[in-house]
Amino acid sequence: MPLSEFDRRPLWAGGPRISALGFGCYRIDDRVPRHHDALDYALRSGVTLIDTSTNYGDGHSETLVGTVLDGLFEKGPLQRDGVTVVTKAGYVQGSNQEEAIRRMGEGQPWPEMTEYSPECWHCISPEFLADQLSYSLERLRLPAVDVLLLHNPEYFLQDAEHRGVPKDEARQEFYRRIERALSHLEGEVDAGRIRAYGISSNTFVVPHEQYDAVSLVRVLELSGRGFKVIQLPLNPIETGATQGIHTPGGKSVLGVAAEAGIGVLVNRPFNAFGAQGLVRFAPVDWRAPRNWRMFGGESSQAEASERARVAEMENYLSMRYGDLGSGTVSQKTLRFLLRQEGVTAVLVGMRETSYVDDCLGALG
Ligand SMILES: NC(=O)c1ccc[n+]([C@@H]2O[C@H](COP(=O)([O-])OP(=O)(O)OC[C@H]3O[C@@H](n4cnc5c(N)ncnc54)[C@H](OP(=O)(O)O)[C@@H]3O)[C@@H](O)[C@H]2O)c1
Repeated sequence: MPLSEFDRRPLWAGGPRISALGFGCYRIDDRVPRHHDALDYALRSGVTLIDTSTNYGDGHSETLVGTVLDGLFEKGPLQRDGVTVVTKAGYVQGSNQEEAIRRMGEGQPWPEMTEYSPECWHCISPEFLADQLSYSLERLRLPAVDVLLLHNPEYFLQDAEHRGVPKDEARQEFYRRIERALSHLEGEVDAGRIRAYGISSNTFVVPHEQYDAVSLVRVLELSGRGFKVIQLPLNPIETGATQGIHTPGGKSVLGVAAEAGIGVLVNRPFNAFGAQGLVRFAPVDWRAPRNWRMFGGESSQAEASERARVAEMENYLSMRYGDLGSGTVSQKTLRFLLRQEGVTAVLVGMRETSYVDDCLGALG
């Protein structure tokens, strides 16, 4: 598939046209000027897709998006319909968890709370989602978002598995909750607070028989016309999304999404988890103090060590996926991902202006 600098494609049939690369807002914060500059620069450079979440930086990621967009809308060159904003809800951490605890004390809890671990609760009840969307719109300074995704609802299944609940029983309750959540989001579309909705799940990409697998087929049966987008992990090592493991009949989740005309956003393109732990398919600036720990401290060996690491990645990519053109290891990785049938866009944590330049260099 040829790629061009402004490789705009519809996020779903008839939906907004988006850039092939989206700005991923995990680990960005409105109190960090570098992050502000990177998002501003990406939007000025042709990126038209932003992915954030209520829990990223405990709301500070959405606040940064709101600030940057406000500035660009006010002074130009951006208009509201020139950018597609995706956010997500489901995590109950930080200030959300404090509110959840306060509500419990007042006898008005958000219903159907999954207390997964002491620091991480999860919820997709309509009451919770309605409140979360209100908070998001305030932080984003927008009257509506383009897409709201349920954020990793599989926590419910993982919690049930830990508690020894039989799989069929857990799945029945899981899809009952999903149906209620999606029906609520359909109402939010009608109310004009969102344009479309969907699900982001790490377990769209695991074998269908696995306890915590989320079935896109089942979800589509339960959803209304506003269900337009999914998000999932895909990178050179974790390729479950492309494999025929999603349905008993041997379809991949990318195949099911393509047949249904659903937009697919890929996350975590460079942070790949392999048998030996985390492998980063992007260059690491060995001179930056924040990365010294990775190389065992600032040393003369750091550069050599990084060169050897990158050579290994390059070798892996070319052995497995053939010719991915010239450029950096991150550019080759993005080309590999964008060539996968069914992928609409790739979200990248390009939180430095230099990362924006590097990533956009993969296109064209
Ligand atoms: N729904 C979910 O559960 C979920 C999960 C994960 C991610 N996401 C979404 O997907 C987006 C992307 O995932 P991610 O941010 O976790 O990981 P990523 O895009 O794979 O990037 C991993 C790390 O690589 C570095 N990097 C990025 N671009 C680079 C470049 N051009 N050159 C060198 N280094 C580069 C950055 O690290 P440093 O800044 O530390 O150098 C970044 O944090 C997120 O921001 C988020 O929007 C969603």
